[in-house]
Amino acid sequence: MTEMHYLSQFLEKIETRDAQVSIIGLGYVGLPLAVVFAEAGYRVVGIDVDERKVDAIHRGESYIEDIPSERLRRLVVDGQLVATTDFAVLARCDAISICVPTPLRKTGDPDISYIISVAEQIARHIHPGMLVVLESTTYPGTTTEVILPRLREDGSNLKVGEHFFLCFSPERVDPGRQDWTTLNTPKVMGGVTPACRQAGRALYESAIKQIVPVSSTEAAEMVSCWRIPFGP
Ligand SMILES: NC(=O)c1ccc[n+]([C@@H]2O[C@H](COP(=O)([O-])OP(=O)(O)OC[C@H]3O[C@@H](n4cnc5c(N)ncnc54)[C@H](O)[C@@H]3O)[C@@H](O)[C@H]2O)c1
Repeated sequence: MTEMHYLSQFLEKIETRDAQVSIIGLGYVGLPLAVVFAEAGYRVVGIDVDERKVDAIHRGESYIEDIPSERLRRLVVDGQLVATTDFAVLARCDAISICVPTPLRKTGDPDISYIISVAEQIARHIHPGMLVVLESTTYPGTTTEVILPRLREDGSNLKVGEHFFLCFSPERVDPGRQDWTTLNTPKVMGGVTPACRQAGRALYESAIKQIVPVSSTEAAEMVSCWRIPFGP
């Protein structure tokens, strides 16, 4: 199968809304994103290690001020949005957005252990045609130096940009804002290859008002890392 084959297959699933989307980390960033994708017509499965959050979603109770419970409940009742602690669901997913925490250490560097743990989980279930988008705030190089090697580690010889697609898209949520939300805040998207960017752009463009494509994952990471303090 050629690069174009898996990309075309992915783009068709976006067009028809047949793509199954997973959001990993259902906090301030992940829950609103899950809601936006579900409202765009995708079946969304959220994954979180915190069972209390998963249970609250099942009850249709929001714990994020930007998402009223009524809005969440509609999607849960319709079966458009489900949540779980079980990463095995990734085997059935076409697109994954990673929204786990990257708290700053005392040294000022982001703690990327949560990202690493999630990448290892994804590696167990990665399959041809899958898109992975990292959203967590981190330093430039994380996507290609930390995520990519782990996704290839499963011995399946999957090639990025050909068999699967990998992007970085910095999240820019400002909790509590009514004017700039997940839906209308322009979203930067950088891919490891042009095919990766095309896949990431297609998914996000189908749910979010404006996507700003950039040349690489490093360029997209530069957009987010202004939040990380530099220097002594
Ligand atoms: N909240 C903001 O305003 C904001 C702004 C800019 C950037 N960011 C960045 O976005 C990312 C997410 O931030 P947030 O505010 O949504 O964090 P959050 O703490 O609100 O949510 C993160 C969620 O991830 C879950 N989680 C932790 N480890 C996990 C794992 N291994 N697998 C699955 N789920 C896991 C946690 O239980 C939690 O529900 C961070 O990198 C943060 O720096 C956040």
